[in-house]
Amino acid sequence: MHSLDLPAHSRLLKPEFTFGVATAAFQVEGATEADGRLPSIWDTFCAEPGRVNNGDTGAVACDHYHRWADDLEMVEGLGVDAYRLSIAWPRVMTESGQPNPKGLDFYKRLLDRLIERGIQPYVTLYHWDLPQHLQDRGGWVNRDTAYRFRDYADLVSRALGDRVASYATLNEPWVSAILGHDIGVHAPGLNDPRLGRQAGHHLLLAHGLGMDVLRTNAPEADAGLVLNMAPSTPKTERYDDRVAARLSEAALTHWFLEPVLEGRYPALFERFYPEQTPIMMPGDLEQISRPVDFIGINYYTRGVVSYDPATGIHNHDPEGVEVTDMGWEVYPRGLTELLVDLDRTYSLPPLIITENGMAGNDRVENGRVHDEQRCRYYNSHLNAVHDAIEQGVDVRGYFAWSLMDNFEWAFGYDKRFGLVHVDYPTQQRTLKDSALAFRDLMARRAASK
Ligand code: NOJ
Repeated sequence: MHSLDLPAHSRLLKPEFTFGVATAAFQVEGATEADGRLPSIWDTFCAEPGRVNNGDTGAVACDHYHRWADDLEMVEGLGVDAYRLSIAWPRVMTESGQPNPKGLDFYKRLLDRLIERGIQPYVTLYHWDLPQHLQDRGGWVNRDTAYRFRDYADLVSRALGDRVASYATLNEPWVSAILGHDIGVHAPGLNDPRLGRQAGHHLLLAHGLGMDVLRTNAPEADAGLVLNMAPSTPKTERYDDRVAARLSEAALTHWFLEPVLEGRYPALFERFYPEQTPIMMPGDLEQISRPVDFIGINYYTRGVVSYDPATGIHNHDPEGVEVTDMGWEVYPRGLTELLVDLDRTYSLPPLIITENGMAGNDRVENGRVHDEQRCRYYNSHLNAVHDAIEQGVDVRGYFAWSLMDNFEWAFGYDKRFGLVHVDYPTQQRTLKDSALAFRDLMARRAASK
């Protein structure tokens, strides 16, 4: 087994650094019709032929809705400080905006158990499972959805308020907006770049409205936003490829970060794609740029891009480098570079790595899963975070994606990101070698405290 090793003096090993594991409601819960849960856009999307690999759905997933107590035992067994989960909007709120007590009770029980075991709950309000009835009224393309999100944030934070250590309003709004409305590979499956950015603006507005509600209802909890980020490397040193790399980072990272931290959309993006500038109302950018306690960063890989005269950016598949089962390059240095670059560009709040991990073609053999590549991946990326901290970046936490194998969206169940292997027919959980390595790191850290 490969161990996870950090320098003895590393800030990651200090008690104030938070280690956790993460999941999201639709990816693990299953029980999509239980206790009054309403359909979400992902139930609809899964039911459309050809949308999800294998025709997989979220109907059962990891059956976490019924097995949550055992799953939390696993979290506790790993020795981590925190567990990041998301609340399913369609479980907790009725179509007329009333609380659904049965849905809320599920999360209350879960959070109470975490707290009882000394594990801090990190809660994401929106991890992509929009209630279908809101999609029927236009979803994120309709400005009204941002206000419905505010109502939902209000309902959840009134009900769960002080049980939660840290709230994130949204997870990866780039994915909801762009994969959902421009590229069309995620729910609701639309194909128009203008709709993508309009949805993106409404998601950011929802974030800003949600921040105000969280400050009122949960003043003790941290509140912020989780973004996916990847540095882009130009394919060649040519000037236009270097511009394409900056444009690609503007489209992915800065388009979502700059409005939150500085109250404006990136000028470079507007210059190249003026037709994608979203329709806004006066005051939107002030609402979006409410102070946040943290920015969560989900990091997996980098992009390699060149300039394309037709579209601006051409993304290249990795060549001659180590990749994961997703075909994503393993590039730990990118995480250090990204963090250092953000730190130089913005006046940042504390950062948390809210997701990092990889998909592997993992198999159980004699009760073991030898996911050697994942152990190496975690080791190199943890050290990449360490390097960024050494260079002065304020990173406060690290969450592995994911606690267990789960529904990987349009890829279905084929892509396994877990520290824990799930055998879907039997729902048997098996700790992979990477989980054992994590547990070992947590134990060594605890011993040195
Ligand atoms: C980011 C998303 O938040 C999560 O839902 C997904 O499973 C992982 N990335 C892996 O793709």
